[in-house]
Amino acid sequence: MADSTPQSQETLSNLLHETRSFPPPADFAANANVKADAYEHAAADRLAFWEEQAGRLQWERTWDTVLDWQAPYAKWFVGGKLNASVNCVDRHVDAGNGERAAIQWEGEPGDSRTITYAELRDEVSRAANVLTELGVGKGDRVAIYMPMIPETVVAMLACARIGAVHMVVFGGFSVDALGQRLDDSQAKLVITADGGYRRGKPSSLKPAVDEAVAGRPAVENVLVVRRTGQEVDWTERDVWWHETVGGASSEHTPEAHDAEDPLFIMYTSGTTARPKGILHTTGGYLTQTSYTHWSVFDLKPETDVYWCAADIGWITGHSYIVYGPLSNGGTVVMYEGTPDTPHKGRFWEIVQKYGVTIAYMAPTAIRTFMKWGEEIPAEYDLSSLRVLGSVGEPINPEAYVWYRQNIGGGNVPVVDTWWQTETGAIMVSPLPGVTSAKPGAAMGPIPGIDADVVDDEGNPVPDGEGGFIVVREPWPAMLRGIWGDDQRYKDTYWSRFPGLYFPGDGAKKDEDGDMWLLGRVDDVMLVSGHNLSTTEVESALVSHPEVAEAAVVGAADKVTGQAIVGFVILRGGGESVPDELLQELRNHVGASLGPIAKPARILAVPELPKTRSGKIMRRLLRDIAENRDIGDTSTLTDASIMDVIAKQLPK
Ligand code: WTA
Repeated sequence: MADSTPQSQETLSNLLHETRSFPPPADFAANANVKADAYEHAAADRLAFWEEQAGRLQWERTWDTVLDWQAPYAKWFVGGKLNASVNCVDRHVDAGNGERAAIQWEGEPGDSRTITYAELRDEVSRAANVLTELGVGKGDRVAIYMPMIPETVVAMLACARIGAVHMVVFGGFSVDALGQRLDDSQAKLVITADGGYRRGKPSSLKPAVDEAVAGRPAVENVLVVRRTGQEVDWTERDVWWHETVGGASSEHTPEAHDAEDPLFIMYTSGTTARPKGILHTTGGYLTQTSYTHWSVFDLKPETDVYWCAADIGWITGHSYIVYGPLSNGGTVVMYEGTPDTPHKGRFWEIVQKYGVTIAYMAPTAIRTFMKWGEEIPAEYDLSSLRVLGSVGEPINPEAYVWYRQNIGGGNVPVVDTWWQTETGAIMVSPLPGVTSAKPGAAMGPIPGIDADVVDDEGNPVPDGEGGFIVVREPWPAMLRGIWGDDQRYKDTYWSRFPGLYFPGDGAKKDEDGDMWLLGRVDDVMLVSGHNLSTTEVESALVSHPEVAEAAVVGAADKVTGQAIVGFVILRGGGESVPDELLQELRNHVGASLGPIAKPARILAVPELPKTRSGKIMRRLLRDIAENRDIGDTSTLTDASIMDVIAKQLPK
């Protein structure tokens, strides 16, 4: 039973006092792209700062106005004209870097391809010519439903080149999810592949497209890349990529587009509600992805080999596989498959093979590697790594330290980057050559971003207290709205705190004023009248040596309002655990956070339900903990996990 000693969230936060902090190595700091003065410089004149960053790009016409802000709608670099594909490809060739690898691609079965910037320019030009022949023009929407292969990048850049709006749908999504997005965006072309390799075998994509496209006459053609050679059904509207793009001219004169012309729509996968089509435009988005990729990862395009392990079907793949790295002329590693195919050392084998210097991945992956054990990465030479990044969920301090130690060799900066599909680019993060980073903290807004933690009334909280993260001033890569639904845009992001952008996440400022992200506010638990964050209780559980992963939820409780129920995955994966260990885990949380945070119940489980982008779905766990029927689980990586977990619960 939770203790009912009066205790505010504030005191609770202070109990989990993380004292570790890792300053940048001296030589790193000395050679870093960005130094400490960047913050002051940006704050002195924010618009001039972003204008300077826009200058990193090649513009056909310079803007007249940096920012036109008609709240809640922003226009950046108004009157400016540029082409995103030229910025990501042609200009590097023109600058004499055509022979540099743009993409180092590794297929799951072990096949690989190197694509230089010159080759990428030719391929993007061919694809742009084919899109035009297929009747796709400026402003038309193009759906991309692909495996992680180079053609996916080519397809996106070809759209950008001609001003068509791409809408990438994650290749693991169902026919229904694809169909819903086709309806909402009214896409006229779908680009797909016969299939891709996943977990050691070809998995098909074309049949899902066939089904989704049947009865959707808005889709005029389906352009199909041959990747696996699987049998596919064929109709009149289908066109092979190799037969069209393969033979097309590599001459293509790009047109400059308006800074505010739409670049893409990315649907956020709502777990309950209809997905939102988040709209991003060209100039501001490219400015901020380019700047953040260079500053937060300290990219040196001549020498770095950068790998982001996200799927291109998520915003992380858009901003930090495609637009950020390529606009900077970097070399990007791209991997088709899963981390355990054909063996659990696959990621580290890739780092070793390509000499990866910067790696960016999600906490869910890191916790999985922790569970598999540090002996696995220890078999590989990871000494090329010099910056590590994390994104997608709060990273538990223990997972952070494990990552830094076992992947980074204990001496590389780890940047915990907070942002969203809606923000388009990184907003809150340490800078690797400047910040003494604390494990689990995103630390503070990057230069040029005005974000803060506020209380219920929208007033900034003092150091040492918790509240909600908000963004006060518009930023270049911000969403320009929700496709076809202005009202929902205003309601979702601008109604909670008038005049402030509300991302929906809880956060706290520690005694030093550094920022800690605490997950979605919907995940906050209310125990005996006190708000507790799932993140902090989970981090306390993960700090126990036996625990690899944890998810906690607040389940309805007659006495305490909500009682904390914890689900843990033990290191080494054991399920039949002695009651004493579970008791010890409860006490461990009590000792780290205070008695009020002590879970009422803890269950050991083999897996946790996660969205396909790796976020823990606490809503489903809450359903289980409250003995409710579980609703739609189609957005889960593995729906059968829910049955397994449900069976563990005493009825
Ligand atoms: C969460 C992914 C804590 C957060 C780029 C946000 C994080 C949501 C972090 C957006 C982080 C992302 N620390 N939480 N470093 N990064 N989140 O749209 O809840 O897939 O609102 O964008 O992920 O997820 P999305």
